[in-house]
Amino acid sequence: MTKSFDVVVIGAGPGGYVAAIRSAQLGLKVCCVDDFKDHNGNSSLGGTCLNVGCIPSKAMLESSENYEKAAHKFDEHGINIRGITVDIPTMLERKDKIVSQFTGGIGILFKKNKVTSIHGRGRFAAKTSSGYEIEVVNGEVRETIHGVNVIVATGSLPRPLPGLEVDNELVCDNVGALSFSKVPKRLGVIGAGVIGLEMGSVWKRLGSDVTILEAMPEFLNLVDRSVAKEAKRAFTQSLGLKIFTGVNIKDVRVRKKSVEVLYEDSESEQKIVFDKLVVSIGRIPNSANIGAENVGLIIDEKGVIPVDEKNCTNLDGVYAIGDVVRGPMLAHKSSEEGVAVAETISGQHGHVNLDTIPWVIYTSPEIAWVGRTEQDLKESGVSYKIGQFPFSVSGRARAIGETGGFVKMIADATSDKILGVHIIGPYASELITEAVVAMEFEATAEDIARIVHAHPSLSEAIHEAALGVDGRYLSL
Ligand code: FAD
Ligand code: NAI
Repeated sequence: MTKSFDVVVIGAGPGGYVAAIRSAQLGLKVCCVDDFKDHNGNSSLGGTCLNVGCIPSKAMLESSENYEKAAHKFDEHGINIRGITVDIPTMLERKDKIVSQFTGGIGILFKKNKVTSIHGRGRFAAKTSSGYEIEVVNGEVRETIHGVNVIVATGSLPRPLPGLEVDNELVCDNVGALSFSKVPKRLGVIGAGVIGLEMGSVWKRLGSDVTILEAMPEFLNLVDRSVAKEAKRAFTQSLGLKIFTGVNIKDVRVRKKSVEVLYEDSESEQKIVFDKLVVSIGRIPNSANIGAENVGLIIDEKGVIPVDEKNCTNLDGVYAIGDVVRGPMLAHKSSEEGVAVAETISGQHGHVNLDTIPWVIYTSPEIAWVGRTEQDLKESGVSYKIGQFPFSVSGRARAIGETGGFVKMIADATSDKILGVHIIGPYASELITEAVVAMEFEATAEDIARIVHAHPSLSEAIHEAALGVDGRYLSL
């Protein structure tokens, strides 16, 4: 007999597993179907984020930053280390252990919350009078389950460079870039986006000569211009990444042990030879082969599943969340949509405010922001005021030894409401939450200026930026 569930979730990434757990907590009978396999061919819950994304990349960023600090920054503290070396196998082992602890943890959470977990590829097979039939295929094994509601959380895949095959040996996507068995001497990266900068930083710190080739003429064009400018200075001058913008990749030739990249910039054609090449030119929604045609689920020409503000698709009882829908491709955005949809299905009022999703780039210095950029406000004709405070004047930043960067707060010129906060500097990933909370509560810069911030703390830079919106800096 076909097993029937109140909710079938397709995909167990941070969108899907959270949607499944929250639905079960709300008393619904839930099944989560996922097809991800780790490098040993074993099923592994957690999607891109836990297996080959957020978690392993942050583990490698931490390890490589520790190495760099020990090698180049401890001496100023009077700590002298001689003969420091890097042990890549141990570094990778640590990363893999963190990943398996988390992916295994999802299985435990599923059991605790009574979520049925099925390994296999799910697709819509048919519409029924009370919901949808989902066919799940795992090798030779096929089964059909029934869901009154279906949540599509199938995530995203790396965008391919036309004509170039990723083998994860010489030409890599995020999967290969997280697992080089030794430090490549010459590493090429196509795309100076989030993955390119994070993975480029990891391998540069560990000793690679890293060249990043970016198609857009402007560096980090999504980011506030003043932050992007500071970031480019830090990444090229302090870290030593070679970043070329406005390039047109003409050809990539894969040799036996190297990769040749031919590109054109504004002046001439260039050729660079690398030992490894990472292609990180964005991600595309993973919506192919989910049986959309069997039930009439609309998918647009870019593979995005169109949804409304409640993540409802064009079909009754079918929702889509995370990387497969509009909005930023971020784990926390996917998870919050998962919670909201579970609550909507249960008759509550699930809601996600896409205007206050924080972004973080985990480079050194870190970059984090929420809300609108100055260039965006300028283009929209909104009048605004700015407070900008450098970490070089922060006592805590000096003690940590991370004095580069600043906090920039942008507020509406008339109402003083905070419109955006942009941080480049130490622990920006943690600091940004104050700005997110402030914006969720529709705070003004004056509200933040009147709140006591601990001394000495990095958060004082946010306080000063808020004071600066009204020209009242205390330390500048
Ligand atoms: P996914 O995590 O992609 O999960 C989808 C799951 O569904 C996968 O397990 C997939 O195998 C499965 N699936 C797909 N189709 C089917 C099917 N038909 N049947 C069964 N299963 C299916 N975001 C952050 O917020 N912070 C970060 O620091 C960060 N770092 C990143 C680093 C890297 C290198 C990468 C690549 C991404 C990073 N991201 C980060 C982005 C983040 O990983 C994604 O936004 C997030 O994983 C999206 O979650 P999701 O649940 O929508 O999809
Ligand atoms: P991205 O969208 O961040 O950057 C891709 C870059 O490649 C862009 O700058 C783009 O202009 C460039 N590009 C595109 N085509 C090109 C070409 N043919 N030649 C040269 N450059 C080209 O995408 P990325 O880095 O692949 O990451 C994908 C997504 O994963 C991110 O957008 C983000 O949503 C998520 N992510 C989030 C992280 C975080 O939150 N810290 C970390 C890593 C990934």
